[in-house]
Amino acid sequence: MKKVVSTRQLPYSNQPFQLETLEFGRAPTHSEILNTAKEAWALVTTLEDKINQELLKELPNLKAIAQFAVGTNNIDLDYCRAHNIIVTNTPDVLTEATAELTFALMLNCARQIHRAAPDVSTGKWIGWEPMGHLGIALKNKKLGIVGAGRIGQRIAEMARGAFDMQILYHNRKAHLDFEKKNQATLLSLHELLKESDVIVLMTPLTPETRSLINQKELLLMKKDAILINTSRGEIMNQEDLIDVLKKDHLFAVGLDVTTPEPLPQNSPLNSIERVLITPHIGSATREARAQMAQLCFDNLERIAKDLKPLTPVS
Ligand code: GLV
Repeated sequence: MKKVVSTRQLPYSNQPFQLETLEFGRAPTHSEILNTAKEAWALVTTLEDKINQELLKELPNLKAIAQFAVGTNNIDLDYCRAHNIIVTNTPDVLTEATAELTFALMLNCARQIHRAAPDVSTGKWIGWEPMGHLGIALKNKKLGIVGAGRIGQRIAEMARGAFDMQILYHNRKAHLDFEKKNQATLLSLHELLKESDVIVLMTPLTPETRSLINQKELLLMKKDAILINTSRGEIMNQEDLIDVLKKDHLFAVGLDVTTPEPLPQNSPLNSIERVLITPHIGSATREARAQMAQLCFDNLERIAKDLKPLTPVS
């Protein structure tokens, strides 16, 4: 039976392998992975595992890596390609969950729920106020999506369906069907940042997108814009974000991703009230996580039978 090592405990999934799970309750170190995975045929990894050359060179039998995530920026894909190690990920099954979380952050940022709710439990709220806790409406506003892949496109559909938002997007290539279906307009990054009321960063982390959003880009955004990042922290220069927020730029920011993760408790971002940070929970619904686990093992089963996996990383 082929040996598969999972770096984390996953939601239960049927699978036919000799599965060993590392149960540290955190991302294992290289030596912890090597202790168990030396002879492994496949690894199941998460976005916190650094699957670099150093590690891969020590795993001579490795033929496959099933990443329990859609992003694969933690894996040396060039090395895998050169050494015929097949890498798979879990697209589609987490699209809905991540789009929903993005929307939850958008709504929260627009209405500042995370600041209003504690006023009730702390007794600070002494009664209804005409001018109290004022947020910003989403209806008919312009939503700028940076990276209109599967998740970005789903967010656009939700925004149109629920709030009649006008969709702007920036992407390497135009998606004509998407444009037609959602009356979306393709813009340059800078045009999109200037025009949008709500900006969602939804692009994968690649050498081209690392630090895509710096001080200059942040200052192009409207003073009252809402900025959401549910992709990868490294897409944005976090120091620049802190600087512009301190200068009272941007209405609110919702981040499901930061640099680093976890964000140190003493990060200035934690004390800026109009920022809401969640602990990288984009795909964290019971449904999505169960399907992600199943897809990892379905991919490995196909690879074991010399079939093309369902969701290879190209
Ligand atoms: C989560 O961030 C993922 O890439 O799936």
